Amino acid sequence: EAFDVVVVGSCMTDLVSQAPRLPKAGETIHGHKFFIGFGGKGANQCIQAARLGVKTAMVCKVGKDFFGDNYIQNFKDNGVHTDFVGQTSDAATGAASITVNDAGENAIVIVAGANMLLGREELQKALPAISRAKVLVCQLEISPQTSLEALRMARDNKAKTIFNPAPAIPDLDPDFYKVSDVFCCNESEAELLTGSSVTNLEEAHRAGQELLKRGCGSVIITLGPQGSVVLKAQESTSKHVPVPAVTAVDTTGAGDSFIGALAFYMANYSTMPLEEMARRANQVAAVSVQAVGTQTSYPFRRNLPAELF
Ligand code: RIB
Ligand code: NA
Repeated sequence: EAFDVVVVGSCMTDLVSQAPRLPKAGETIHGHKFFIGFGGKGANQCIQAARLGVKTAMVCKVGKDFFGDNYIQNFKDNGVHTDFVGQTSDAATGAASITVNDAGENAIVIVAGANMLLGREELQKALPAISRAKVLVCQLEISPQTSLEALRMARDNKAKTIFNPAPAIPDLDPDFYKVSDVFCCNESEAELLTGSSVTNLEEAHRAGQELLKRGCGSVIITLGPQGSVVLKAQESTSKHVPVPAVTAVDTTGAGDSFIGALAFYMANYSTMPLEEMARRANQVAAVSVQAVGTQTSYPFRRNLPAELF
């Protein structure tokens, strides 16, 4: 069976508290709402791609527990292929404690659990799907070695690769750049990876150039309400792709919505310029920030304007 988009990555149960502001160290504050949702960067990206209408498969590991069982059902409900979703009794399903403030900003602690047990064995089992994928997507909520190996497997088989170095680590293996057709991160990840501040467009362009030099095909830095900057190795230009202004309710997982949408466009519209894909993916992600939660806020193709397709 061939898939358009294969994601090798994480699943987390999101435990979300909405509060007026983020608590300081040692402080207890009252929040006004609590809910549990399906999250994890890998799964979020896969679900967004699936909702836009491509054939997707997820390669991941959850615990043999209530959260893991529920997560597998969630994939099925969203039409994601689950033959490569493993369950282990050696660790619990990943969990993310998320606090969202009234400005829609968040602070997150993840306990990756079962995600860290995804390894070579599972990749070998998924090789037929990875090797025939149009696009493979990886992040950093599983073991970095597993991500790197998945990207290499995809590359060896001419699948296009998107790498999202999130959450960012300072000592990222330089090979990640070489195996990424599109290296896509947000401003804080770009700061951590380049060691320079990324607080405005000018700095984003410069950080993009620095990341591009490390060997990836293209770089996209997402900038929240400012849209994104797109750089390609074959061109010396760095393009700013703005996004229409919206009122953010909850920005959690907006970056994942963007990447899931980008994977959809790369799989389905292979000749579309990358900056046009980024422009459309920005619009999909802008829908997601206007509703609470991560996956709960991700739009389906039927809810989006026809001009995006
Ligand atoms: O990118 C958002 C995601 O990060 C959340 O769903 C949470 O699970 C964390 O992994
Ligand atoms: Na949202």
